[in-house]
Amino acid sequence: MDAQQEWEKLQAAASFLRGRVPESPKIGLVMGSGLSAALGPLDRETSVPWGEIPHFPQPTVEGHAGELTFGTLAGKSLVVQRGRVHYYEGRSMREIVFPVRLLKLLGVEILVLTNAAGAINDAFSVGDFVLITDHINTIPDNPLRGPNLDALGPRFPNLNDAYSPRLRGLAHEAAREVGLTLREGVYVATPGPMYETPAEIQAYKRLGADLVGMSTVPEVIAARHCGLEVLGISCVTNYAAGIRPEARPTHEEVLEVTQQREQDLAKLLRALLPRL
Ligand code: HPA
Repeated sequence: MDAQQEWEKLQAAASFLRGRVPESPKIGLVMGSGLSAALGPLDRETSVPWGEIPHFPQPTVEGHAGELTFGTLAGKSLVVQRGRVHYYEGRSMREIVFPVRLLKLLGVEILVLTNAAGAINDAFSVGDFVLITDHINTIPDNPLRGPNLDALGPRFPNLNDAYSPRLRGLAHEAAREVGLTLREGVYVATPGPMYETPAEIQAYKRLGADLVGMSTVPEVIAARHCGLEVLGISCVTNYAAGIRPEARPTHEEVLEVTQQREQDLAKLLRALLPRL
């Protein structure tokens, strides 16, 4: 796929959406699976199914049909992407980050990404919300490899402060307002779909990781490339393999904990939005 073709696909998707939605939001919110229901409908909501957006990656069987939802929440105009596509589904990096780049073309400036993650740091508790401070990528690819999309960003972007210290400060303020405590930590992205071995988790711990998950990092790389300001929030759904004697991650527990915690995440986001 050459850069020109990719750019044309993004332009086609953006102009389609400009014709469908009333205003262009400055805030994009990507909700990890299981985390978005409690957010509820937006005010003055317009939803566009992924299937209608030209070139938008379509969910595979295991993912559920996604939508991009435009509207306002807590007085702020935003676009919410419920669910995402993952590397483990066999998707290319270009597909995984297509939505991020599309949001950029629509005028988004701040991207808030949420996910479920396993805790490597044993000071974390299941159910904690953790602000991502930095990442380690072990997915054997990244979205910037290949011809650069010069219209979006530089060939060699840096990833210092990829997770905005300013936005992290605002998130802590919002959390205090609603009586939540946010932790902070380094997120390691793994290719999945299998959970890690205990030996891998020990290795990641020594490398400095506090959290492990199978998403987010490709999106952050693409978001920083095109100059979006990023906030990453993980919901700790389990201890990573071997961190506790009983720690054997299952998809069921991940889903169960996201369901238990999505109300509080929605509360946090409602308190955060007016500050953005
Ligand atoms: N490992 C990888 N991804 C995850 C985990 C985990 O333990 N928990 C939730 N997503």
